[in-house]
Amino acid sequence: MAKRKTAPKSTSGRTRRKAAPKSNSGRTRRKAAPKSNSGPSKRKAAPKASSSRSKAAEQAPENSVYIGRSVKPEFLYLRLANRHGLITGATGTGKTVTLQGLAEGFSAQGVPVFCADVKGDLSGVAETGKAKSWIKARAEEIGFKSAFQSYPVIFWDLFGKQGHPIRATVSELGPLLLSRLMDLSEAQEGILNIAFKIAGDEKLLLLDLKDLQALLENLAKRAGELTTKYGNITKASVGAIQRSLLVLEQQGAGHFFGEPALKVSDVMRTARDGRGYISVLAADKLMESPRLYATFLLFLLSDLFEELPEVGDPEKPKLVFFFDEAHLLFKDAPKALLDKVEQVVRLIRSKGVGVYFVTQNPLDVPDTVSRQLGNRIQHALRAFTPAEQKAVRSAAQTFRRNPKIDTERAIMELGIGEALVSTLDAKGQPSMVERTLVRPPNSRAGPVTKSERKAVINASPLRGVYDEGVDRKSAYEMLQKRMKKRAKAKDADEPAAKKSARSSRSDGFWTTLGKQIVRSGVPLMTRVLESAIRSRMRK
Ligand SMILES: Nc1ncnc2c1ncn2[C@@H]1O[C@H](COP(=O)(O)OP(=O)(O)OP(=O)(O)O)[C@@H](O)[C@H]1O
Ligand SMILES: [Mg+2]
Repeated sequence: MAKRKTAPKSTSGRTRRKAAPKSNSGRTRRKAAPKSNSGPSKRKAAPKASSSRSKAAEQAPENSVYIGRSVKPEFLYLRLANRHGLITGATGTGKTVTLQGLAEGFSAQGVPVFCADVKGDLSGVAETGKAKSWIKARAEEIGFKSAFQSYPVIFWDLFGKQGHPIRATVSELGPLLLSRLMDLSEAQEGILNIAFKIAGDEKLLLLDLKDLQALLENLAKRAGELTTKYGNITKASVGAIQRSLLVLEQQGAGHFFGEPALKVSDVMRTARDGRGYISVLAADKLMESPRLYATFLLFLLSDLFEELPEVGDPEKPKLVFFFDEAHLLFKDAPKALLDKVEQVVRLIRSKGVGVYFVTQNPLDVPDTVSRQLGNRIQHALRAFTPAEQKAVRSAAQTFRRNPKIDTERAIMELGIGEALVSTLDAKGQPSMVERTLVRPPNSRAGPVTKSERKAVINASPLRGVYDEGVDRKSAYEMLQKRMKKRAKAKDADEPAAKKSARSSRSDGFWTTLGKQIVRSGVPLMTRVLESAIRSRMRK
C-alpha cells in the first residue's frame, strides 16, 4: 500500500513535532479493546476498559470523544474540542455517519450539539440504532462495542413544520447579514445601514419583515429631509431594497423574522440524565434557499458569540456546532462577510464553542478560517479533474505527515467510512495523520418517520415556547400609528380651517350686508319716518 514518496514537507503553518516512529504501517488493524465511547448515562454502557495495561493503552481517554480506530484509538480531547474542526469528503464517503458518531459522543459527554440536517438522515439520532450488517461489521473490525440507544434531540425548523420554529428579529440579524441575504449592492447596504440608524434614533423596533418594509416606505417618503442628516438616500435605491425584500419574503424568510426570538440557552441544554441535547435543524427545505441557510447559521454563530461569556479553555465545550454544506457560507461571499466569519470562528473558541465545518471539498474553506480548524477528518476525495487533484494535494498538505502514509494517495484510496484523521494531542499539537476506520453510530443511521418526529417534538422540553409567533408593537405599528396620528391631525385641522375659512367669508358677508343695511337702511328708515310724520301733519 501507500507508496512512500519523497513527500513534500507538508502542513500549512502547523507546528510539527518530531514524531516517534510508530510501528505498524498504515492500515494493519489490531482488534481493539472494547470501546466505551459513550458518556455519563448510557442505557447499555459498555463495561469500562479492563485493568490490563495494554488494553488500557488501547482506550480513548475518559475525557474524549471516540472517532474510530487506526493503529490506535483516534479521538478528540474534550478540552480541545473548542479548537474547531473540519470534516470533508466526497459524496457517499461517510461524512454524515462520522458527524452522527461525533454528535453522539459529545452528547454522551454532556456537551450539547447543534447541527443542520441537510438530507434528513441525521434525524435518526433521536431513535435507537439497529445492528445492520455494515454496523456490525465495522464494530467488529475496530472492536467497538455498540451501545444502541437514542439520544436526546430537539428538532428545529425555520419553517416551523419539522420542529420548533426558529426566529430572529430583523435588528438581531443586523444590516450586514440582511444585505447578504438580500444580495444588496454596496450602495444599497449603505442605505440599509442608515435605515437601522434611523430606527435606532427614532426608537422604532425592527422585529419582522413588516417592520422593515414600513421603515423603508417611510424613508422613501422622507428621503429629502433625511438626506441632509444621514447622507444620501435616494428613492430609487430604497425601492431596490424593497424589491429584494419582497424576493426574500417569497423565499419564505418571513417565517424566520419575528418573535419569540431564539434564546441561545435553548440550544445549549442538557437532558435530565446529563447528556447534551442534540439540536437538529431541518434543512432539507431550507437548502432550496442556500443563502438563507448559510446566513442563518452564521447568524446563530454570531448570536452565540455575542451572548456567551468568555470562559477561556473549559474542560469541555459548552456547545459544539456543526456547519454542514459549509461551502455555501463562503461562496461569493463579500469580504466584509468573510471577515466576520473569520472573526467569529477565531473568538468563539474562548466562549467554549467548537465549530466543525462539514463540506465536500477542503478548498471550500478559505485559508484564514481553515488555519483555525485544529481537528481534521478527511474522507475520500476523487481526483479526476485538475481542480480535484489540487484539492487532494492541498488537503494532504494540511495534515501533519506520517512517514508511513502517503497522505495524498491515501486520500484517494480511502474506503467508505474510512478517513484520514489528525486531532490535537494532549499538548494541543496536531497529531500525526492516521488512516482511521470510523466507528458506527449507536442511534439509527437514517431518517426518523413523521410520527417519530412528532413524538419527539411533543415530548420536547421547549414545547409551547416557540410554537406560536407573537406580533408585538414595533416599527410597523408605530409608523402606522404615526401616520394615523398625522392623518387625524390633518383631519382635525382641516374642518376647523374650513370653518374658519368659511366663517371669515360669512362674517365678511354679514358685515358687508350689515354695513349695507346700515348704509341703506338708515336713510330708508329716515324716509319712512319722514313720510309718517308728514302724513300725520296732513291729518
Ligand atoms: N463508519 C462507517 N462504517 C461503515 N460504513 C459506513 C460508515 N460510514 C458510512 N458508511 C456507509 O456509507 C453509507 C453512506 O454514508 P453517509 O451517508 O455518511 O455518506 P455521506 O458522505 O454523508 O454522503 P452524502 O454526501 O451523500 O451526504 C452509509 O449508509 C453506510 O452504508
Ligand atoms: Mg451526508
